[in-house]
Amino acid sequence: MNRIHYGGDYNPEQWSPEVWTEDMKLMTEAGVSLVSVGIFSWATVEPAPGAYDFGWFDQVMDNLAQYGVGASLATMTASPPPWLSVKHPEILPERADGTRLWPGSRQHYCPSSPIYREYAGRLVEQLAQRYGDHPALKIWHIGNEYGCHTRQCFCDVSAEDFRRWLRDRYGDIDTLNENWSTTFWSQRYSDWAEIFPPRAMPTFGNPAHKLDFARFSDDAILQCYLVERDIIRAHTPDVPVTTNFIGLVHKPIDSYKWAAEQDVVSLDSYPDPYDRRSHVEAAFGYDLIRSVKGGQPWLLMEQAPSAVNWRPRNAPKAPGVMRLWSWQAIAQGADAVLFFQWRQAVGGAEKFHSAMVPHGGPDTRTHREVQALGRELAAASEIADSRVRAEVAILHDWDNWRAVEGDAHPGVVELLPAHRAHFDPLFDAHVTVDVVHPATDLSAYKLVVVPNLYLLSQAAAEALTRYVAAGGTLVVSFFTGIVDEQERAYLGGYPAPLREVLGLKIDEFWPLPVGGSIGVDGGTGTIWSEWIETEGAEAVATFTEGELAGRPAITRHEYGEGVAWYLGTRPNPALMRTLLDRVRAEAGVEPVLPGLPDDVQAIVRHGAEADYLFLLNHSASDVTVTLPAPAVDLLGSDASVTSVSLAAHGVAVLRH
Ligand code: GAL
Ligand code: ZN
Repeated sequence: MNRIHYGGDYNPEQWSPEVWTEDMKLMTEAGVSLVSVGIFSWATVEPAPGAYDFGWFDQVMDNLAQYGVGASLATMTASPPPWLSVKHPEILPERADGTRLWPGSRQHYCPSSPIYREYAGRLVEQLAQRYGDHPALKIWHIGNEYGCHTRQCFCDVSAEDFRRWLRDRYGDIDTLNENWSTTFWSQRYSDWAEIFPPRAMPTFGNPAHKLDFARFSDDAILQCYLVERDIIRAHTPDVPVTTNFIGLVHKPIDSYKWAAEQDVVSLDSYPDPYDRRSHVEAAFGYDLIRSVKGGQPWLLMEQAPSAVNWRPRNAPKAPGVMRLWSWQAIAQGADAVLFFQWRQAVGGAEKFHSAMVPHGGPDTRTHREVQALGRELAAASEIADSRVRAEVAILHDWDNWRAVEGDAHPGVVELLPAHRAHFDPLFDAHVTVDVVHPATDLSAYKLVVVPNLYLLSQAAAEALTRYVAAGGTLVVSFFTGIVDEQERAYLGGYPAPLREVLGLKIDEFWPLPVGGSIGVDGGTGTIWSEWIETEGAEAVATFTEGELAGRPAITRHEYGEGVAWYLGTRPNPALMRTLLDRVRAEAGVEPVLPGLPDDVQAIVRHGAEADYLFLLNHSASDVTVTLPAPAVDLLGSDASVTSVSLAAHGVAVLRH
């Protein structure tokens, strides 16, 4: 990419060709450089099986080329045409209770269906042949938000595919029995045919069965992507391939696994303007999407120009917020800002979703802001391809997410709130974070934070131990290192694989009642408490009430050249902030800029020639920031400055 791309989903089939002419004029005026085109065009380009009608689409692609707008060309397979589910009703997905999901919305296909994959593949073959050399083609956009609506399918076709997947994984049925702990509740299988998807059941299902079904379902959806990707790659090996992840973080789709199959990763992002902290939620998602592809720039493939239409109450973005949130994505590593969608639909389920050209036409606040941002981004090309660097890593693992939120645990622990409890105080302290998988090489990080990593492989536990031994600083929260990859408890005192590095063992979990809290030195804890026996660790804080009063709550253990901290509860936000401030100061992790108010986000992208400091004012008041050294104010005077004033929702980009 040699610029920050700008544009949106473009659905010209909803409009007459006269409107297409106006589209091209308005896109040019708004600095649009890239549009996602064709996402929902299947029924229009193939109105009957094998009867292709590409004429109108040729015209659309030619228009884009003529006006210098690139195509993020969709494979058009996100919503199968009505004739396909009439001809082959067996492609329709089924829920756990056997309910069949009918056509009439979108994504109504069983991911394991060979018939769906075959029809999709035929269409993709046509598209690759027809448009592979088209001058407008910049990038392939495979499918759309895989797993957004249909996440798992429990039909007979999926059952058979699940059995095949299990045979590949375990080889023989005895190994599966061993890995699924099936001696429990008389679940021992004698034959693959006895295994079903975890359909509706009388009570708690086998956790290993459910975890494998989640892994399988993710793989089945990934297989749909790969079928299309491989056809595309065979025709256009040099055109990059992406698919847009549903934002901000989506449990059914393991983005680390999927990222390896894409040339560039893309994210859709819809923070709620009503939520005063939604930029922090977005920040976590952006740090994760950047990290899934090792820090490579990513594409913000969709966001709303103003309101969405799928929450119970849909707030518009106040003046300046669309610009601020767009720059936030760029600050956190995006090289493209695109919207859903270009022109607001007249009919259909999304007619009240905002668009770059609203129902009111170009003479509207939203469109004026869209135009202004387009001009601003066109002048900021030098930022493209620069990189964010972080000294702190938070560990995230999709397998753990699926496992830790399983049934029948000591207490409910939800992973995203757990991440936010650890991420927010670092964000507020202006510390840059990567969100990485436990198998990542951690040696370059000064601090590694591990929120509730219940499922932990022996290998990952050993890597964490070595990381601390070699001088790293580790923070581990309760209910970490409890089970292996097959949901089998580690024996010998929790958390057995981390006992040595943490210098303690947990004798028993004492989860707190729903909504309850417990006193801890310096604050309170929620969700959890536990009976900790130290084995070399020092108690930094103890519980101050109840049966656990006086027993360790938060511990610190010097191990090898490093330090390992342990939190036996979820400290309240203020205590968590104090604690993480101390931990990172000891680890030598500095904020991007000292002395900034919490609501001003600061982050740096490092380029080949220069560094870019982004300052984003998420508050509703004006702030003035003094810079550590003179810098060029790219969005303002373009002159060298030593301080910048940011109005409410204001943005500054400073070149050093
Ligand atoms: C996304 C989807 C788009 C559109 C958008 C509305 O999930 O990919 O097609 O529906 O949401 O916010
Ligand atoms: Zn199915």
